[in-house]
This record gives sequence, structure tokens and C-alpha cells, in this order.
Amino acid sequence: MPKTFAVLGLFDHPDALMQAIPQVKAKNLGRIETYTPYPIHGMDEALGLRRSPLGGMVLVMGVLGALTAFGFQYWISAVDYPIVTGGKAPWSWEAFIPIMFEVTVLFATFTAGLGMLLLLNKLPFFGHPVLQSKAMRAITRDRFALAIEADPELDAEAAREALRAAGAADLEVLEQEPPKPFLTSDFVLRTLGAIAIACVAAGAVMYGAIKLFPVLPPMSHMQDQPRLGPQQANAFFADGRSMRMPVSGTVARGHLPAATGTQDDAKTLSNPLPRTEATFALGKQVFTRRCAVCHGALGNGTGSLTAAYGAKPANLTAQMFRDYADGQIYWAIVHGKNAMPSQAAELDDKERWAAVHYVRALQRAQNAKDEDLR
Ligand code: HEC
Repeated sequence: MPKTFAVLGLFDHPDALMQAIPQVKAKNLGRIETYTPYPIHGMDEALGLRRSPLGGMVLVMGVLGALTAFGFQYWISAVDYPIVTGGKAPWSWEAFIPIMFEVTVLFATFTAGLGMLLLLNKLPFFGHPVLQSKAMRAITRDRFALAIEADPELDAEAAREALRAAGAADLEVLEQEPPKPFLTSDFVLRTLGAIAIACVAAGAVMYGAIKLFPVLPPMSHMQDQPRLGPQQANAFFADGRSMRMPVSGTVARGHLPAATGTQDDAKTLSNPLPRTEATFALGKQVFTRRCAVCHGALGNGTGSLTAAYGAKPANLTAQMFRDYADGQIYWAIVHGKNAMPSQAAELDDKERWAAVHYVRALQRAQNAKDEDLR
């Protein structure tokens, strides 16, 4: 049994409609609504419509968007993962403005769009019952309808009476359409069938296209550039090989320079470690543990070895060693020298270079100049 949705009364003139509204409204039978071919000035007041809350909603959500963006960026840049960029403080709010602007617009537009469609206009709502009415043709042309709509129930007889009393010429009772089921088995089957046909068609077209048309490799100039493969003969170099030996002294990326040549070659190596307190602490530790027994705590060659050792450890603070390059000292640690055994197996690269720094410090301590006191 379909319910009554509304009773429509048609008027010939907007003024007649405007006059009828307060009379019908006074009877308080249901929700009052008008349907007109064009907007009529003063209609919203006559119907007693509230101002739309949309503006306020947008304002609140926009401000919320700005605060969200600010808070999020502040948390990232100043709290969770502070990074100093270009010497600026991590919480430099000026940099947050573009994103705050974007998020403000995002929140505001989504609120306006979705709020209007879903909350205020109650969409999705396909097919308003009035669109099915006989009066619809007249309403979209030259007549003005006043409707008393069910809220939620409607006494159709009383509504007709009220509209006729208010001067409506034609009356029409609109039934509420029973809601149609959406997911019918027929609908599901048709949809699945359509998807299957589309897949087969796309596959067939793709297969045909690849079979019938030659495939052009993209950017072949990068594939076909002249280069020599490994083990390939090469007419350019005298030895006919395509692969070259690395230049002597080459160091792999990320590795410290190594003393591969003679002690003189090592002159060009420079100490990669910074002269920091930590470096000197490490150097002191290495020297005390590995060098002091022979070279003495001061590096002056008077260690705790007895004559049974049979050799004389060098006085590292002597002028000769002060004139050494860092690399030459490093070389001696790696390769050893005469009676001094190589220390390479015991010390990693960092420890060796730290020891070099420490030897430098010992040399300077034993040969301090006046300026060093300042
Ligand atoms: C087992 C004893 C011993 C130890 C340990 C030792 N050295 Fe020596 N070192 C010597 C002797 C002996 C010489 C002198 C070699 C020679 O006859 O020229 C020497 C020479 C040197 C020289 C001069 C090399 C040159 O070009 O003449 C340096 C620099 C040096 N040692 C640094 C160190 C450092 C740094 C350590 C610790 C990492 C160390 N040594 C550990 C015994 C030792």
C-alpha cells in the first residue's frame, strides 16, 4: 500500500502562490514546499527557511584544516624529525604556509561539496516523487505549485481541502514510490557478464595489436650505444684489452686511502680523520696499547723493552720524524720497518690514522713553541 508523499496545488500567478502560503501554513498539515519555474523573490522568507548553515560549516572546517596542517608540520619539523635546512630554525612557520593554505582549501571545499550534497541536500536521492507528477510539465513552464508534504504522515483529504481553500486551481495527490531493490541477481549477472566481455575484448585487441603491428623499442639509442663488453677485444689500447687496470693508488669509494706503494709514495696520503677530541682519545688508546711498549709513553724511543729485544725503537719526536708526512708514519704502521713488525693486522684504518694524529701530538708536546702556550 503506497503512502501519500504530497498533495500538490497549482497556481497561475506567483502572487497567488505567495498569498496562499501563509493560509496553508497556518493549518499545520505537513511540510510546506513550493515548486516554481524560476526563483521567486521573497519565497525563502515566506516559507520560513533558515539561513543555510553551510557558510559556518566551511569556516569551521577551513580553520580546522589550517590548524591541522600547522600542527602536523610543526610536529614533523620540530618534534619528531628536526632537520636544520639552510640554517633556519626547524619550526620556521613561514615555510608551513603553502601547505597550510592547501589543506585549508582542501578541508573547506570538501566540507562545502560533501556537506551540501550529502548532509543538506540529502543525496543520493535519485528521482524526486514530484518529477513523476502530472503537474511537472506545467511547473517547469508557467505554473506555480504549492505542496503539502508528508512529515512523516499526511492527511490527504485535509490537505486537498486546505489547498483548495487557499485558491489552488488543480490538485494532485502524489504517492510515495516503494523503494526499488538495488542489488538484484539480474543486475549482478549483467554486471559480471559485461566485465567478462570487456576483458576478453581488451585481450583480443591487445593480442592483435602486438601481432599485427611492429613493436618499436622505446629509446633504442640508449640500448645501442657503442661500448665494450667485458672480455671483448679492443683495437684502441696496445694490449688489445677492453678493461683497464685502475690507476695505482686508486681507492674504492667509501674506503680510507691505503698505503699501497713505497714509504715515499705514501707522502701524498693525507690523514682523513678530523682532529677532534674523540680522535685523539682513540689515538692515545691505540698508542698506549700497541706502540708505547717499544716507543715509550712519550714516543721518544725509551719503551719498557729490555736489551734482549735487540733493536732500538725510533725516537718518534726526533726532527727526522717531525719532518715526516702523515702518510709516511701511516705507512710504517701498516708495513712495519726493519725490526718493527707491521701493526696492520691489529689495527683498523681508523685506529691507524688516529695513532698518526697522536704521534703528531706527542711530537708537538716534546717540542713546544712559545705560541703553543697561548
Ligand atoms: C715491537 C716493538 C715496536 C712496536 C710495538 C712499534 N714499533 Fe715502531 N718501531 C720499532 C722499531 C724497532 C723501529 C725502528 C726501525 C728501524 O730500525 O728503522 C720503529 C720505527 C717506527 C717508526 C719510524 C719508521 C721509519 O720510517 O723509520 C715509526 C713512525 C713508528 N715506529 C711508529 C710506530 C707506531 C705508531 C706504533 C704503534 C702503532 C709502533 N711504531 C709500534 C718498534 C716498534
